[in-house]
Amino acid sequence: MTDPATATSLRDAQGRSISYLRLSLTDRCNFRCSYCSPLSLEHHEDPLTRPEVARLTGIFARLGVRRVRLTGGEPTLRRDLVEIVRDVASCPGIEEVALTTNGQTLAELAGPLRAAGAGRINISLDTLDPARLLALSGRAASLERITAGIAAAGAAGFASVKLNVVVLGGVNDDEVGALARFGWRHGAIVRFIELMPFGRGEPVPLAEVKRRLAAQGIRLEPDGSRGWGPAYHMRGFCEGGPPGGGLLGFIGAMTENFCDGCNRIRVAADGSLRACLGGRDQVSLKSLLRDGSADEAIGARIVEALGRKADRHEMGAAGGQLLPMVGTGG
Ligand code: 5AD
Ligand code: SF4
Repeated sequence: MTDPATATSLRDAQGRSISYLRLSLTDRCNFRCSYCSPLSLEHHEDPLTRPEVARLTGIFARLGVRRVRLTGGEPTLRRDLVEIVRDVASCPGIEEVALTTNGQTLAELAGPLRAAGAGRINISLDTLDPARLLALSGRAASLERITAGIAAAGAAGFASVKLNVVVLGGVNDDEVGALARFGWRHGAIVRFIELMPFGRGEPVPLAEVKRRLAAQGIRLEPDGSRGWGPAYHMRGFCEGGPPGGGLLGFIGAMTENFCDGCNRIRVAADGSLRACLGGRDQVSLKSLLRDGSADEAIGARIVEALGRKADRHEMGAAGGQLLPMVGTGG
């Protein structure tokens, strides 16, 4: 295989350059967020092992992947998470490692994860109301612990701390302004995400989220900056907010199809490759890693799967048939 430094970029069937790998480390989660449908999930208790994750990361890096996000389920349930982060961060060709977590154990883990080489962290936070959090994410979820986790992430020196808010009609749509302000106070960027049809809940289109922000005292202005993924930013202004405004992210998964700019590929918790979050195509990389296949052969299967990738997802149409979010990590 090619040297990661000289690898030509990986491309999908539509010619989009694929440089960003989202790798789910487990489909287990200590939370039960209603929109993520983990209740109905049968667990695969046999996720990729730490050496398999390291080997697979190397294969992707040699194909041209530069950024890796470790997701779940809840990745902090892996006891070897810090070591996995260290392996992935030190893999030649990988420039940045990020994590998505529910934040529950981040108070203890933020420092070690940062020291192991994680550069960015996204934390799910849908409400600032403890009773709502219980109703939404289950009994294990503690606002106090998550808030301590967010503070620890802020202190650990990540390049960015982002707070993911899935906006649900009649549940947290009256809190979008308060969540934005909470993010700014904690040096974090709040990202408002449209509900995708994986679990339960009433979707709120981004246009409505923006109207709600305005009604809740936050004036929005366009901002050109973007993250690695599908989010775009706007600058929000309010009394007592950051001078010059603060960034807010928007992910219009349903009403603002972002597939044109897709730069991502996913490996689910069961070790299957998912070229598209909204698609049904799967290739079991775990079987290949375990049946003696050479790295080159596995790389070829990845390239092949990208060659079958559709130009956009059909989430509206596929509806309930989507593979559950909990094992694909968003
Ligand atoms: N729609 C949109 N986002 C979702 N997430 C989980 N389920 C859904 C869904 N149905 C997001 C959460 C979490 C990330 C891993 O995925 O915000 O932060
Ligand atoms: Fe767990 Fe995240 Fe799914 Fe909530 S959204 S159940 S925290 S994986």
